[in-house]
Amino acid sequence: MTSFRYERFASDGAARLGRLHTAHGAIDTPAFMPVGTAATVKAMQPESVAATGAQIVLGNTYHLMLRPGAERIDRLGGLHRFMNWSGPILTDSGGFQVMSLAKLRKLDENGVTFQSHHDGSSHHLSPERSMEIQRLLGADITMAFDECTPFPATPAQAAESMRLSMRWAVRSKTAFVERPGHGLFGIVQGGIYPDLRAESAQALIEIGFDGYAVGGLAVGEGQEAMFATLDSTVPLLPEDRPRYLMGVGRPSDIVGAVLRGIDMFDCVMPTRSGRTAQAFTRRGTVNLRNARHQDDPRPLEEGCGCPACRSYSRAYLHHLIRSEEILGPMLLTWHNIQAYQDLMRDLRAAIGEGRVAAFAAEAAAREALGDI
Ligand code: GUN
Ligand code: ZN
Repeated sequence: MTSFRYERFASDGAARLGRLHTAHGAIDTPAFMPVGTAATVKAMQPESVAATGAQIVLGNTYHLMLRPGAERIDRLGGLHRFMNWSGPILTDSGGFQVMSLAKLRKLDENGVTFQSHHDGSSHHLSPERSMEIQRLLGADITMAFDECTPFPATPAQAAESMRLSMRWAVRSKTAFVERPGHGLFGIVQGGIYPDLRAESAQALIEIGFDGYAVGGLAVGEGQEAMFATLDSTVPLLPEDRPRYLMGVGRPSDIVGAVLRGIDMFDCVMPTRSGRTAQAFTRRGTVNLRNARHQDDPRPLEEGCGCPACRSYSRAYLHHLIRSEEILGPMLLTWHNIQAYQDLMRDLRAAIGEGRVAAFAAEAAAREALGDI
């Protein structure tokens, strides 16, 4: 049986090239995890997700506990079998989604009571119930139950919220049932305050986790403050464990975070944008709804191996979007996931060859040129 472990092959400055081994296979890092909130990466079949090079997908405790229910997924053989994804799955722990989606939320020391955004039914999440749900789902990587501190927050508010998350981290660790190949990640909070981030990192290290996430970022603080927070936080994390920046981000956010030592990312950006006609290319974002594409016979991105770029013109993709044809979001989602996976592959190659800083500078220069 595989044990859960992180191997580091190379470093280039703070950037790391590695591999994370789990019960359902290995993940080459730095890695981007497509978001499969409701047991599907929206508009993609799992074999297509895998074809882009993605090795792990993310699922959500909050959505799956409400519909179809964690116990039901367990009875049906677990989330891997339910959604036909045989690779690793990371599940988020629910608190973040409760605070952004649920109605009538009530948070106290024990956890959070809330009403479903579907039908108003009442539910409760605590560290213990979140660990149970993630176990029923069969997550390879379980996230500790935390509160994502809202932005902006005063130092006092951020400290109170972070310390609650640290007490919940202790309870998450106690409730987590260890199984071979399965890992539990703690989540650093503390807003944009370096002393609170340090206190949080220290608390989590004392509890002991298989990996360390940085949460509470990309919530409105801006890229500069996010990078400053990573500069102060990431060096405090154990070198022999994976580091995951939650909910990030745009390609330039990912490149900057990899330069600062982050190994794992997830974000709805490529999938959500794909459904609203926005494509990510090496020359920045392209809106396929724009009339400038209507007579353009060129592919969306020259050299991209995805089906949208291999077989179709910008004019055709534009036509699909304008006609509200379902193939439009399908092809653009595929392209965007491909673009993110290609970025991660290129970052890994650059780290391995000791040229990641030059790669980052070239990527930024290319993006600044814009689409032509
Ligand atoms: N997703 C994005 N940010 C966060 C966070 O701070 N905590 C959790 N659990 N999920 C997130
Ligand atoms: Zn493409």
